[in-house]
Amino acid sequence: MPTSDTTRVPFEPASVPFTNPPFAYRQGELCCEDVPLKAIAAEAGTPCYVYGANGIRQRYQAYRHAFGDLPHRICYAVKANSNLAILRVLADLGSGFDIVSGGELYRVLQSGGDAAKVVFSGVGKTREEMGYALDAGIHSFNCESARELEALAAVARSKGVRARASLRVNPDVDAKTHPYISTGLREHKFGVAMEDALPLYQRFEAEPAIEWIGVSCHIGSQLLDVSPLAEAAEKLVSFVDELRSAGIPIRELDIGGGVGVRYQPGEVAPDIPDYGKRVLRAFASAGVTVVAEPGRSLVAEAGVLVARVLYVKASGSREFVILDAAMNDLIRPSLYNAHHEIVPLRWEPRAPMFADVVGPVCESGDFFARSRELGRVAEEELVALCTAGAYGFVQASNYNTRPRPAEVLVDGDVWRVVRQRETLAQLVAGETV
Ligand code: LLP
Repeated sequence: MPTSDTTRVPFEPASVPFTNPPFAYRQGELCCEDVPLKAIAAEAGTPCYVYGANGIRQRYQAYRHAFGDLPHRICYAVKANSNLAILRVLADLGSGFDIVSGGELYRVLQSGGDAAKVVFSGVGKTREEMGYALDAGIHSFNCESARELEALAAVARSKGVRARASLRVNPDVDAKTHPYISTGLREHKFGVAMEDALPLYQRFEAEPAIEWIGVSCHIGSQLLDVSPLAEAAEKLVSFVDELRSAGIPIRELDIGGGVGVRYQPGEVAPDIPDYGKRVLRAFASAGVTVVAEPGRSLVAEAGVLVARVLYVKASGSREFVILDAAMNDLIRPSLYNAHHEIVPLRWEPRAPMFADVVGPVCESGDFFARSRELGRVAEEELVALCTAGAYGFVQASNYNTRPRPAEVLVDGDVWRVVRQRETLAQLVAGETV
């Protein structure tokens, strides 16, 4: 039952606020690194994504560490968060990039990223994108079909170059994650079944415009158990033996995306050192450079979406907290039923409330949480939707002609807007009556 009595029932979870570094409460104010989010919201407005650069750096270094002595390359999956400033933070650390479109390559180059460290993944690359990537001098293509390899060979030939390629194999491993982001089973559109892969390697070994360098795979995202990744890694390693016996020299193995993250209290996500021990160790004797394409685990926990409570509305026995952010800003709850913790920027004892937290978009699917127990929030208060640094802004849209939010990057005690909030004029630019 809704209650507004803040003295009678103290909201006990207050003692354990959900935060992920670089977010923490200081004197009751939620801060990103050394900056209170309310100060950012006051200037940048809401809704607004806020990311912590040091949080990203720490996670990148954890991956570096997990590889230990293994020859490796970390290729950040740009799709997780492609803001130029985030790409620059990673480029400055020496990161490579995993791209899935010409647009993402453009972003990498604009941010100062090194084309020579770029791998191009995706099941449907166009010839134009292939040409652009060859001109830019990217490291390699992760190819997914015979027809794609034929197209790549034709484009490379027309430019008088060889394209370095790996084949994405489908190891038929169940990633045990949400069906929309599980990719490693035979029924999925991705990759080539392992038994079909060897004939493809042999066929294109004879194609002068293609240079085989490796084998790649990606079984899914938000993996809370690394066992399927370890299983895929073993399959890759034994497949490399098979390829080498068939006279095909392989020097790289790409294990695809990284580990899952903790979206809610009580959820246990694999830690990156454990991923190193259980997954990367499988490659130790393979004599290859190991490539990983982590996206989510580098940026998800380093970002939040800050929103303002517009209205609190009771309807029968239900209460609705209506935010100024909506599904167009963060679609993960609507699309995957994903959980994002919602916390007030000001932490203090509060009465509990059970509410649907929703946005202003005209769809019943426009929700961030349903029947969620929260500390009671009031109109005009600011809240943070946690763990929103990955697949947040990048999946934002202009649905309901809503400008996409601003993005802010915090680095220690300094912060700046790294993407301005869209204007209405920008939304209609390019249209004619
Ligand atoms: N490599 C490839 C080929 C991928 O397809 C992906 C993610 C990654 C790497 C990065 O995986 P990660 O380290 O981020 O798990 N929109 C969904 C996630 C889609 C993931 C697609 N592919 C979400 O919001 O959960």
